Amino acid sequence: MIKKKIIAIDGPSGAGKSTVAKILAKRLNYLYIDTGAMYRAIGWKVKEEGIPLNEESLKELCTSTEIRLQKVSGEMKVFADGKDVTGEIRTPEMGLMASSVSSFQCVRERLLELQRGMGRNGGVVMEGRDIGTVVFPDADIKFFLDAKIEERGKRRHLELLSKGIKDDLISITDDIKKRDEADSTRNLAPLKMAEDSIYIDTTNITIQEVVATMLKEISRDYET
Ligand code: DC
Repeated sequence: MIKKKIIAIDGPSGAGKSTVAKILAKRLNYLYIDTGAMYRAIGWKVKEEGIPLNEESLKELCTSTEIRLQKVSGEMKVFADGKDVTGEIRTPEMGLMASSVSSFQCVRERLLELQRGMGRNGGVVMEGRDIGTVVFPDADIKFFLDAKIEERGKRRHLELLSKGIKDDLISITDDIKKRDEADSTRNLAPLKMAEDSIYIDTTNITIQEVVATMLKEISRDYET
């Protein structure tokens, strides 16, 4: 039997990680795991309950909150204490909130444990910021997706518009820059490319081309 792999995808916001991870997971019949959604769910809970951003309060929150990713009618949904927050966590505000809570040790430790549990047996396409460096440093294959900031801003703008969220391109691009800066300069598990990652610049290539490149690398990996 062919071993089910752990496929790690990292990169900054708007590089196309979620789109290609979903397609890859479907093609390979693997589970798609969006780790950013887990940080967003914690951020959502912090806002909902007006919890102060400090290690002690967040530790309590992380211990008492159940974060769950579950497939419902073929779609991956995110639940915080049983409530489906999939739609509510997709706003730019929740993106920044997720980035803020993600710098706290207790939050990272809690989610790391959940993420490792979900991926341990393989058969997963897991995307985030630290999958190839921290969550699964021994992942079977690692990709780092990147794109020029202007292109990432445009993509996020269109994505939000398609969800009925109207925000101007300049402020969306600024938010992404702020998040990139915070995510790559924090002390714990910062966004950085693992040495053994395959780097793909998605600025000028289509989603289909990115997926084709990744599938080629994955099948090459099966041969070795
Ligand atoms: O992928 P995303 O935009 O939904 O992620 C939201 C934030 O969560 C991101 O700005 C940083 C944090 N995050 C993280 O620190 N580590 C991950 N593996 C995934 C996301």
